Amino acid sequence: MRFSFTLDATDGAARTGRIDTPRGAIRTPAFMPVGTAATVKAMLPEQVAETGADILLGNTYHLMLRPGAERVARLGGLHRFMNWDRPILTDSGGFQVMSLADLRKLTEEGVTFRSHVDGSKHVLTPERSMEIQRLLGSDIVMCFDECPALPATEERVAEAMRLSMRWAERSREAFGDRPGHALFGIQQGGVTRALREESAEALKSIGFEGYAIGGLAVGEGQEAMFGVLDYAPAMLPEDRPRYLMGVGKPDDILGAVKRGVDMMDCVLPTRSGRTGQAWTRRGQVNLRNARHAEDPRPLDEGCTCPACRGYSRAYLHHVVRAGEMIAGMLLTAHNLQYYQDLMAGMRGAIAEGRFAAFEADFHALRAEGDI
Ligand code: GUN
Ligand code: ZN
Repeated sequence: MRFSFTLDATDGAARTGRIDTPRGAIRTPAFMPVGTAATVKAMLPEQVAETGADILLGNTYHLMLRPGAERVARLGGLHRFMNWDRPILTDSGGFQVMSLADLRKLTEEGVTFRSHVDGSKHVLTPERSMEIQRLLGSDIVMCFDECPALPATEERVAEAMRLSMRWAERSREAFGDRPGHALFGIQQGGVTRALREESAEALKSIGFEGYAIGGLAVGEGQEAMFGVLDYAPAMLPEDRPRYLMGVGKPDDILGAVKRGVDMMDCVLPTRSGRTGQAWTRRGQVNLRNARHAEDPRPLDEGCTCPACRGYSRAYLHHVVRAGEMIAGMLLTAHNLQYYQDLMAGMRGAIAEGRFAAFEADFHALRAEGDI
């Protein structure tokens, strides 16, 4: 079976459909929980599947440093290693090197850097990134790119975009012909429309199974991000999945889907769950807050997750305050359930041509606030 994308319905710019892979289908719009180090932190893989997630994200950068791509390959690949048999998308490493590694040196060839784990020296190039993602057994492989750190001049953004386009060509060449696996290009160009256009044209002339929008959610703010999303998705092929990297808060996700994005990932539901933050239909709730100390009600009476089915706000408050591990487990499970329910809600609304009403309800309930 090959990799394919089918569009089922559109409502305005919003789309719903499915990606078929040999490891199963991905319903779109899709949210991908982040499993950076071969684990979605605080969750068993079967619990992640239970929330409705069809695909996880893994990271080249972290896995190449620990435990190493060749070791994962010897142990049967990332799916077997982490006990997740559904699709996995891996990011290519360039973005994480820039934010996490020490003593980075960027050249036309690639990036040399020192590990943030043990200081050891490493090299990442488009060719090595493709090799690592193949050793991991990733179903959706990302091109090796450079996302400039902000603030950056337009000149610097243009230079990084053009380097990323040359690396995209090398990534395509090194990826080779791998039926059932996909390679996605990554559009760069910051918030400059002409650079986004140039990047999209370069990627389309190389040709990819899917196209990502990179270089956003790096501090430009929601208004500027939506400004780019008002035109960027339409620059990419209509018949291929579009993936907005590293986004975001629930309202960012809704706004991105409204503008034609099919896939997203973000550490927010998992990371904030480990600090006592919950995301609900009524907005963000901090379980550390004293107002929950004697509240016998569930976090969200409409949620089917383990935290909402079995525990009170008072209990969640207690375990967060006490620093108990179950706090991170329960709130991560809840947050991932909320994110997947949001995606399912949007898919249903697009299929039935009522996305505008769904969006109005989403904002109305949040405006009421937590009760
Ligand atoms: N994650 C969030 N943004 C980016 C990006 O621009 N490139 C890559 N490779 N990963 C990302
Ligand atoms: Zn819940």
